[in-house]
Amino acid sequence: MATSLFGRDILDVQSISDEEVRLIMDTAARYERAMDNGGRLLNMSGRTLATLFYEPSTRTRLSFEVAMLRLGGTVISVADGQVSSSAKKGETLYDTGKMMESYADVTVIRHPVTGSAAELAAGSSKPVINGGDGAGQHPTQALLDLYTIIKEQGKVEGLTICLAGDLKNGRTVHSGAALLARMGVNFIFTAPDALAMPDKITKDLIAAGIKVDVIPDLDEAVAKSDVLYMTRIQQERFDDPAEYERLKTSFEVTNDTVKKAKKNMTIMHPLPRVTEIKVEVDDYKGAAYFRQAANGVPVRMALLSLVTGCE
Ligand code: NCD
Repeated sequence: MATSLFGRDILDVQSISDEEVRLIMDTAARYERAMDNGGRLLNMSGRTLATLFYEPSTRTRLSFEVAMLRLGGTVISVADGQVSSSAKKGETLYDTGKMMESYADVTVIRHPVTGSAAELAAGSSKPVINGGDGAGQHPTQALLDLYTIIKEQGKVEGLTICLAGDLKNGRTVHSGAALLARMGVNFIFTAPDALAMPDKITKDLIAAGIKVDVIPDLDEAVAKSDVLYMTRIQQERFDDPAEYERLKTSFEVTNDTVKKAKKNMTIMHPLPRVTEIKVEVDDYKGAAYFRQAANGVPVRMALLSLVTGCE
């Protein structure tokens, strides 16, 4: 059955309706159950996914690729587009999009420039999925984050979610804030002044009636949060290396931090982590970041199959 997501690009979270979000969550849960039961899925047999990555990635690229393989499809991939693709010769993303539509049924792109996924999508008549465009958006991460919160906490509505770390440059928190706001959460923003959430995002949330508390102290924030969503200080987005050095260890979650937490707090992180969550915290039962990364597979299976009409 073709749903409203058939043929669609996934460029940001704003253009996915609440009903479509529910469909993605339900489809992902169905695939997860099928994989748990050892089922062999062939929904995307004969279809091809292209992954075009112009920025480093471990999880996003590989989880999209394994999602496609688990659906019986095939994958073509450029893992280091900045050096090995025709971008190096000056080809535009629009022209690359024209090529992709004849090579692949769906393309995932990651690129350092905000808006680049939209440029590729303008050239391609086949669906394009944004796997992260600079400090812009990372919609598929937001969806797998939502899926993770539902699994870990059993609900989303009414939760207090602390977004912590580099809220200025982190695309996962930009997409995540916009998506979770629609689910009736309250936010705490915890960041150094220089890395605060962009004003426009905060103002839009407040205008939409969302409760947003800015609490710069991590321990204080943790005591009030149901979910702590830590992020990496985004070194590659800094113009001044000295500024990065000054801010890189702004927050570190340790076992002491966890002791101050609200009971049953879930700790998430899109990964990769650097020093912001100590390895000792991995044993805490609410440390969900590796489970979160694993959830990327069924959620991306859902997205790939829904946009190609193969669900
Ligand atoms: C994130 C990204 O690329 O934005 N990684 C990911 O996709 N899981 C987070 C980060 O790089 O800090």
